[in-house]
Amino acid sequence: MPVNDTATSAATTSPLDRVLALEMVRVTEAAAMAAARQVGRGDETAADDAAVRAMRAAFDFVPVDGTVVIGEGERDHAPMLYIGEKLGAAQASDGRAGPEIDIAVDPLEGTTITAKAGANALAVLAIAGKGCLLNAPDVYMEKIAVGPGFPDGIVSLAKTPEENVAAVAAAKGVAPDRLMVSVLDRPRHADLIGKLRELGCGIQLLGDGDIAGVIATADPDGGIDLYMGSGGAPEGVLAAAALRCLGGQFEGRLMFRNEAERRRAHECGITDFDRIYRLEDLARGDCIFAATGVTDGSLLDGVRHVRRKDGRQALSTHSVVMRASTGTIRWIRGEHCAERED
Ligand code: FBP
Repeated sequence: MPVNDTATSAATTSPLDRVLALEMVRVTEAAAMAAARQVGRGDETAADDAAVRAMRAAFDFVPVDGTVVIGEGERDHAPMLYIGEKLGAAQASDGRAGPEIDIAVDPLEGTTITAKAGANALAVLAIAGKGCLLNAPDVYMEKIAVGPGFPDGIVSLAKTPEENVAAVAAAKGVAPDRLMVSVLDRPRHADLIGKLRELGCGIQLLGDGDIAGVIATADPDGGIDLYMGSGGAPEGVLAAAALRCLGGQFEGRLMFRNEAERRRAHECGITDFDRIYRLEDLARGDCIFAATGVTDGSLLDGVRHVRRKDGRQALSTHSVVMRASTGTIRWIRGEHCAERED
């Protein structure tokens, strides 16, 4: 059952074995290393394809009975990692008994970044129990996020940007002009950016990559107080899964540009088109979030060629994996023998 407006039951016991955390890093590492070969090559499609293929192949070794709920799109348009695709080496249909999980993937978050060798491209995924991740259509989502340590409900999409900024500034005991807000640099954000400028806020304008933008609010040393603005709804679910692990608050509201987008949402089980989703509505119960850097960024270093102490060429990776139920965050450096990278 997808999480939707009629979903009622929450997972009470975690279906996620702790060993899955490392398995998830193997999957994002594979996608990141494949995409890294396309960094700066100017070909977004090739970069995305490489990441998708590598992530899809890596899932064949993971002992789960998984279903893609956020992926590369509908089955007709995406040959791999399409919504509804079964992933994992322990499918109940084959008589194996792996945990039944939902999988949200963004094999390459930042296709343009990768093509242009910019900052903050990531390979990302989240897993949760069956029915615990919002089956979000590929439409835009209005988002607002703050890191941990604030009173519950301090920010909300039901409030104006001015009210949200004032609330966070008051909670921090500073003037609004001391806050730094992260916003995707898009013409559609001109009004929001204008309001924030009037308040005197600093604005970090992101070229791309709002999963990293949302996560940055939870970094006490990152200097970002708030994330605001609209980006992809799938990225919103992935960012929410990360904040479930890191602490922090997030709200998202789907945005529809036409009837076709509303229809897609309806097919995903969404009936209330104006609903404001909070963290637990987007990612419920226990969940694991994993990401590996493709290019250097605020969260992770990118893939690099290194020479190991044993003299062999290797690719180094930098990943993070975190789990909501325990709050554990692991930063993992990998060295992968270059001659075995395929
Ligand atoms: P891609 O990797 O699919 O290009 O997504 C990058 C991204 O910046 C996301 O982080 C963000 O949610 C979305 O695009 C915003 O969409 P748009 O570029 O249409 O504003």
